[in-house]
Amino acid sequence: MVRNILVAVAWPYASGSRHLGHLAGAYLPADIFARYHRLVGDRTLMVSGSDVHGTPITVRADQEGVTPQEIVDRYHAEFVAGWKALAIQWELYTSTGTRNHHDVTQDIFSRLHENGHIDRRTSEQFYDPDAGRFLPDRYVEGTCPHCDYAEARGDQCDGCGRTLDPVDLIDARSKLSGATPVRRETDHFYLRLPDFSDRLEEWLRSRKGWRRHVLNFSLGWIEEGLQERAITRDIDWGVDIPVEGLGEGKKIYVWFDAVIGYLSAAKEWAKIQRTPDAWKDWWENPEAEHYYFIGKDNIPFHTIIWPAMLMGYGGLELPTDVPANQYVTFRGGKASASRGIGLTIGAALEIYEPDALRYALAANLPENNDTEVSEEELDRRINDELVATWGNLVHRVLSMTRSGFSARVPQRGEQTAMGREVLDSAGRTLDQVAAHIERVELRAGLRTAMEGAARINAYLNATEPWKLVKTDREQAATVLKNSIDAINHLKVALSPYLPVTTERLHSMLGLPGTVAEQGWVGAPVPAGTGLGEVSPLYRKVEAAGRG
Ligand code: MF3
Ligand code: ZN
Repeated sequence: MVRNILVAVAWPYASGSRHLGHLAGAYLPADIFARYHRLVGDRTLMVSGSDVHGTPITVRADQEGVTPQEIVDRYHAEFVAGWKALAIQWELYTSTGTRNHHDVTQDIFSRLHENGHIDRRTSEQFYDPDAGRFLPDRYVEGTCPHCDYAEARGDQCDGCGRTLDPVDLIDARSKLSGATPVRRETDHFYLRLPDFSDRLEEWLRSRKGWRRHVLNFSLGWIEEGLQERAITRDIDWGVDIPVEGLGEGKKIYVWFDAVIGYLSAAKEWAKIQRTPDAWKDWWENPEAEHYYFIGKDNIPFHTIIWPAMLMGYGGLELPTDVPANQYVTFRGGKASASRGIGLTIGAALEIYEPDALRYALAANLPENNDTEVSEEELDRRINDELVATWGNLVHRVLSMTRSGFSARVPQRGEQTAMGREVLDSAGRTLDQVAAHIERVELRAGLRTAMEGAARINAYLNATEPWKLVKTDREQAATVLKNSIDAINHLKVALSPYLPVTTERLHSMLGLPGTVAEQGWVGAPVPAGTGLGEVSPLYRKVEAAGRG
């Protein structure tokens, strides 16, 4: 049965370079998961785009003295280039700056308003008396009321990860002028989150297979008591409010519009395909499955606020799973582009080949705990695991086939018990990796595939075909044929993780078409097949010579 799978990936702020934490937290796991589902033959829709609104963008623009649009264009282009270099494959990577996204956002806002889920209220917000402007979200910095971190931003604390309200900061200061903000009354629209409390809790408790940290965090939020949340801001950059009456100088809050991107991108994709209703196969189809790939600081927006918006709108599917990741650390500290800790994606690509980087991060995905991604750790994963176990395996088997059998896949002679076991186990590996990926246990899936490679290495070490080739050609041929067939199975299992080099391997094996066309099935390589050009799949990384 073909399934409809939505792979919904966090929308990166187009306000600065993204780092390895973002890659390991959202983009790489999403890509592995989506590639697997495409190989299986599922209708897979992987969407995201640049998040172009909000104070992350405008603060940056103010600092540089350029327009928000200039900032957005610069980083959007950088992100798109990064996805291409890393073989992150989208059905659609767009941005929240499109007409389509603005329309869909306004439609959701209007419907929630009509349905009575949005209130208008007056509240006190911070105002900069020197700059003569309100100070939403990141325009205020101060000390976190929860953890005392001194550089907390108005919307979020990087010290403890909590979402904040700027007026709760201690010793607040304006990012515009350094002035101490004053409180001033302003009108805004609020989403009546408490309306959904019971339904959200019931829905969350009915979820199967969710990561414990995601579920506990979300239920904890509800237990603390949901509050009405302001969904407009005193800012001039964002989606226009479709309901009259608030006055000038206000826009929809970035976090209200960004999550709607998952829906608006599906609609945009459908239009581009010239099947404008096709988005409904995911969004209005109870059989469809929706997976959200995000970092843990985004959890409540995806497990509470967005589901509440969907409930209030009606008729749209809720998340199937939100396999949020923990953080990556860099020499022990949380990676953070703004604080210059850890490698940006661009810097990492200057050091590592794309699949090598994908491997090292996938092996260290912070699925249930924070994980370390310093260069030492990445080097170790690449040299000691990827190159030593998989790269060398492929290289020695294909080199022996080239030198000993004129670069043709040899005919199997008499099969042995050990040989049969290697083949059976490669077949089982494919099923086990699939089961892990289905459960979004991507690290375990990769480890399982690599254990498969280690078993073929052990088989080679036990049979020593490099010696047999002189003493018993038929047995040497059997060992190589078994190894090639087992490698060809692992090629499929590894291809969601290592899409570039598994395609190269596919041509090195002399096979027609692509792994993507072959799909999630293992197949022997027919005897007599002439190998393509054989060269190492990876190079070792040298720690020396690095700045
Ligand atoms: N732009 C946000 C961030 O970088 C993530 C937005 S995810 C979305 O943290 F769901 F809102 F799109
Ligand atoms: Zn804090």
